[in-house]
Amino acid sequence: MQDIIIAIDGHSSCGKSTLAKSLAKALGYTYIDSGAMYRAVTLYFLRNDIQAEAGSRVDAALQDIHISFNKRNETLLNGENVEEEIRQMKISRYVSEVAAVPSVRKAMVQQQQRMGAGKKIVMDGRDIGTVVFPKAELKIFLTAKKEIRARRRHTELLEKGYESSVEEVMENLQHRDHIDSTREDSPLRQAADAVIIDNSVLSREEQLARALELARQAGATDRL
Ligand code: CDP
Repeated sequence: MQDIIIAIDGHSSCGKSTLAKSLAKALGYTYIDSGAMYRAVTLYFLRNDIQAEAGSRVDAALQDIHISFNKRNETLLNGENVEEEIRQMKISRYVSEVAAVPSVRKAMVQQQQRMGAGKKIVMDGRDIGTVVFPKAELKIFLTAKKEIRARRRHTELLEKGYESSVEEVMENLQHRDHIDSTREDSPLRQAADAVIIDNSVLSREEQLARALELARQAGATDRL
């Protein structure tokens, strides 16, 4: 038995954070939502009218951006709790453009690697198994049919009180998936040694059970 790093990657809105959170809880590990970090950077850019392109304004802004998480896994931008705001469509519309800027990625990846230095983490994102932790002991590539992903995200936004249409959400997922998969720096792709889980027809319990089995095979001990 050993402490391990678990990387969960996949397309937009396929349930990575739900799985990552429950897996981290079952193992007594820390959950880190790398997407929240790109969302927080995007919020900072929007507030300060910074364009998503390589250049000195972006580099200066990155010096001024400090992202952390509180005990409830909520995202803090320079100490301010921005968890609610970063989940809104105004951020989703712009985040993939921001996340494609190499200096933004470099700054986030450095921070993510520091967070994983002591192992015992579950991190979800797009490039965790390929770039951030290429040596992660367990890599999962999560996937689901796009209609199911759009419906789930639409319901999630409604539950939080944000109006949107399924069509608008679907369009946003496709837009982000396209940019995330075709950008030059660290595109979203499945690591050669990742295990695919398609959760289109799996319940939350079923996907957790499958991931826990994989974590045990990779050497982790769970608390259940
Ligand atoms: O939850 P959802 O799948 O909608 O997205 P997210 O994980 O919150 O990530 C938001 C965006 O951040 C993605 O669409 C990517 O553009 C970017 N991202 C990234 O480039 N690399 C990561 N490791 C995580 C997110």
